[in-house]
Amino acid sequence: MAEKITVPEVVKKKSRGEKIVVLTAYDYPTGKIADEAGVDIVLVGDSLGMVVLGFENTIPVTMDIMVHHTAAVARGVSRALIVADMPFMSYQASVEDAVRNAGRLMQEGGAHAVKLEGGAAVAEAVERMVKLGIPVMGHLGMTPQSVHQFGGYKLQGREEPAAVRILEEARLLEECGVFALVLELVPSDLAKRITETLRIPTIGIGAGLYCDGQVQVIHDILGFYDRFVPKHTRRYAEIWKAAADAVSEYVSDVRAGRFPIDE
Ligand code: KIV
Repeated sequence: MAEKITVPEVVKKKSRGEKIVVLTAYDYPTGKIADEAGVDIVLVGDSLGMVVLGFENTIPVTMDIMVHHTAAVARGVSRALIVADMPFMSYQASVEDAVRNAGRLMQEGGAHAVKLEGGAAVAEAVERMVKLGIPVMGHLGMTPQSVHQFGGYKLQGREEPAAVRILEEARLLEECGVFALVLELVPSDLAKRITETLRIPTIGIGAGLYCDGQVQVIHDILGFYDRFVPKHTRRYAEIWKAAADAVSEYVSDVRAGRFPIDE
């Protein structure tokens, strides 16, 4: 069996110039499919609130939901590193909340690491978690838990002052000990600057081609979400359509007496 992916292994990939492949998963089948396809990191993203649970955004996602889905993913993954998202308000109110909730994702969910959104505002929590032995992945740029503040899912860091702020926050998170950093919806040249500045790997989504790795939402690449298709994704299948066609056929077969048949 292939070697398990560890946090130090992910970090080393940057110095070796090996691209890091990250994909979300939300349950046993998606976890197993991602793992068997060879992704390096399976991210149990709070995007599950939208693509699996049908919420408008990620804000309603709770710790109990994240623990439930992380544990299901963990049952399907044997090789990849499992990173679980810390949901809205599970880490913002206090460092103690952050530590306890990260602990739950690892102890009850089986995550190997956690991811949280933000820079200076979460620096103290990140530093404490890392000191306690909890590997943390950062997330800057368009941070979906702040969607109401941003007024939508918009590109961040387009103007130089905003770009410098994101770069400074990336440096700060590295100092606090994050082992990797997601950059979401930032201009490609800013992602390149950050990637060249940091020793830790950057993982882009809608951030161009210069990041050390890429992350996508599995429902987006599989065509398994009906509400919108992000511009930065590529469709590798049309699962929603295939499933809808199959279920319609089943409905017609039962109604017409074609299923079941005698034998
Ligand atoms: O929740 C999620 O799926 C994420 C990725 C899009 C980075 O945070």
